[in-house]
Amino acid sequence: MAFPVFRSAVAAFSAVVVLAFAEPAIAQGSSDAVARGAVLFDAGGCANCHTDRKAKGPLLGGGAALKTPFGIFYGPNISSHPEFGIGKWTDAQFLRAVRDGVAPDGSHYYPAFPYASFTRLTDTDIKAIRAYIMSLPPVAVKSRAHDLKFPFNIRAGLIAWKWLYLDKGPRADDPAQTAEWNRGRYLADGLAHCGECHTPRTMLGGLDLARYMAGNVKGQGPEGEAVPNITPHMQSGIGKWTVEQIAESLKSGTLPDGDSYGSLMADVVANGTASLSDADRRAIAVYIKSLKPLAGRGRN
Ligand code: HEC
Ligand code: HEC
Repeated sequence: MAFPVFRSAVAAFSAVVVLAFAEPAIAQGSSDAVARGAVLFDAGGCANCHTDRKAKGPLLGGGAALKTPFGIFYGPNISSHPEFGIGKWTDAQFLRAVRDGVAPDGSHYYPAFPYASFTRLTDTDIKAIRAYIMSLPPVAVKSRAHDLKFPFNIRAGLIAWKWLYLDKGPRADDPAQTAEWNRGRYLADGLAHCGECHTPRTMLGGLDLARYMAGNVKGQGPEGEAVPNITPHMQSGIGKWTVEQIAESLKSGTLPDGDSYGSLMADVVANGTASLSDADRRAIAVYIKSLKPLAGRGRN
């Protein structure tokens, strides 16, 4: 590289200018992407499924057992390790995994990896998440194989699942709504994937959109937990909560009645929405408040 020779030939002051000029946005842009990616990574809850927190496992070295009606999934190692993680992947391969649910070898991912929500993310955000993951230490641990029941252990079946349930790609903003609402929808439906836990599923494991955010009864939610109805229904949902109260709960984990979130929602806040800006949390709240109010919990 001729650059150092060139720099030694100029005065200190212009060296600074040349440095800034010769190394344009790339260096600065990538550290910026890493910082942005860190927030997105948290909001997406990536570490929640890809780190075995119960066993105090290394960050992104593979997750704890995720029990579902289809069997047990283990979030794989997605650390920057070139062999055991995704260190060798290109941006394009990462994009395809997160948006299309397709592995570099062409096989299909199970929707336990919430790509049916992440598919809404923009290219810029997906690449920023990858930049952040690549800035984290590699973990040399082999991913654990899933333990699935027949016929769900056959990945080819996922082609049909995707045809039914994967509505691929980002959505255009709805011009009839405010910028805040559109931002809230982007975060709630996409990155923060609220619906993946708060919406009941069909027999085939797709989200039952007619019951969007209407909650799951015990036994049906993730890890068999009951998940509350968060539509603005006055009795069944959170119709009595104000936008400010919803936003506050996503920041501190404190509910309007002074109680705190427990179980999976505590993780969603602590390792997720707590890192978002106040504006982003408010946007999510505005969007949630605009949903169709639905009575009942789960599949009622
Ligand atoms: C609810 C749990 C869950 C969350 C949240 C989650 N993942 Fe995953 N992820 C999984 C599971 C389970 C798999 C394995 C899917 C399979 O084997 O078909 C997976 C697979 C992946 C893979 C493919 C790895 C490989 O070796 O092929 C990538 C990449 C990935 N996830 C990235 C992410 C990112 C980035 C986020 C956050 C934006 C994220 N995941 C959030 C559960 C999750
Ligand atoms: C990993 C699953 C999961 C995800 C993702 C998730 N939640 Fe939750 N949520 C839960 C569970 C479980 C509870 C019940 C918590 C408890 O018992 O304290 C809950 C509770 C809530 C409540 C309290 C409702 C009530 O009546 O007390 C609100 C509000 C809420 N979630 C909003 C959200 C929003 C907004 C998002 C997306 C930013 C989200 N949740 C994402 C699992 C999840």
